[in-house]
Amino acid sequence: HDLSRANTLGLPCLAECYAAPTSLLELHEALDLAQRQDWPLTVLGGGSNLILPERLGGLVVQPAMRHWWLEEQGESVLVHAEAAMGWHELVMALAHLGLWGTENLALIPGHCGAAPIQNIGAYGVELGDVLEAVHLIHLDDGREAVLSSADCAFGYRDSVFKGALDGRVVITRLVLRLSRTPHPRLGYGDLACRLEAEPSALAVAQAICAIRHEKLPDPALLGNAGSFFKNPLVSGELARRLMAEHSAMPHFPQPDGRVKLPAGWLIDRCGLKGWRKGHFGMHDRQALVLVHFGGGSADELLAFAGEVAARVRERFGVILEREPRMADD
Ligand code: EPU
Repeated sequence: HDLSRANTLGLPCLAECYAAPTSLLELHEALDLAQRQDWPLTVLGGGSNLILPERLGGLVVQPAMRHWWLEEQGESVLVHAEAAMGWHELVMALAHLGLWGTENLALIPGHCGAAPIQNIGAYGVELGDVLEAVHLIHLDDGREAVLSSADCAFGYRDSVFKGALDGRVVITRLVLRLSRTPHPRLGYGDLACRLEAEPSALAVAQAICAIRHEKLPDPALLGNAGSFFKNPLVSGELARRLMAEHSAMPHFPQPDGRVKLPAGWLIDRCGLKGWRKGHFGMHDRQALVLVHFGGGSADELLAFAGEVAARVRERFGVILEREPRMADD
């Protein structure tokens, strides 16, 4: 099965076997089959934060259940969304309904089921802020479970699904808690300037879409996986040294004394914004986004990304960590 169109980086990939179960029953059947045959299993969502190898042995399961529904709870509304529901599609539907909580996360690509893994976040909001529960299946024995938000151990681009549960579960449904009461969060960048006073949830979502369209390439036109590196957390000492040299460097002090630096700024200052080598490059409007011009491979991509990280390390002494995950890690 050809997966080259199932990953937003557009990397060529052939899967030995592939299943797209449209119900929990079919999903259980696919997982049972892989276990009986002792096949390696890869779970695929929207493929928007993923680096695929040229061949994937065993079974690739891409959940295809995509219903969603609301459960009224007084002032709050619980939103149930199955794994294959498109995240952005859900966000826009909720914004149209005047429900508050996810509007800042508009236009993030991918499926709902993958959203908790890296705790998607943008413009001052993270999924963990609105997530109530995650329904999942354990791969070892097929048992179903529900995790609370606290169980998910959310951090910046981090969760239990990258730690203790990495490769051990498939997420089948999210439960989000949204509000009918307006609570716009407009503190990030120039978001507030783009909106009238007392905007609707839909107006906020549309403003976010406009900002993202200005900076981020559309994966349908140019292969990419959004931010390619995480924003690094450095020691207060290193941050002070760098700030003394580069007074314009944006910096975000954390409660633990460390300082978060924008990787895009560091890459930009190394002169790598718009840099192209072979089939890959760093985007010319947002230096943190690695783009694939077509015809490249995962190995070439990793070598290219390694060069970018090495340049940042030489110039600033800061180590960049990759954000997208390798399918065969
Ligand atoms: N900057 C530059 N040059 C660049 C890019 C950025 O100087 O080429 C500077 C900007 O001027 C700004 C700072 O770096 O002062 C931060 O830039 P921006 O607001 O664009 O956000 P970011 O830190 O680069 C993060 C997330 C994005 C998210 C935005 C908005 C990470 C790794 N990335 O990017 O998430 O949309 O904030 O909240 O945390 C993603 O994860 O795929 C993603 C797109």
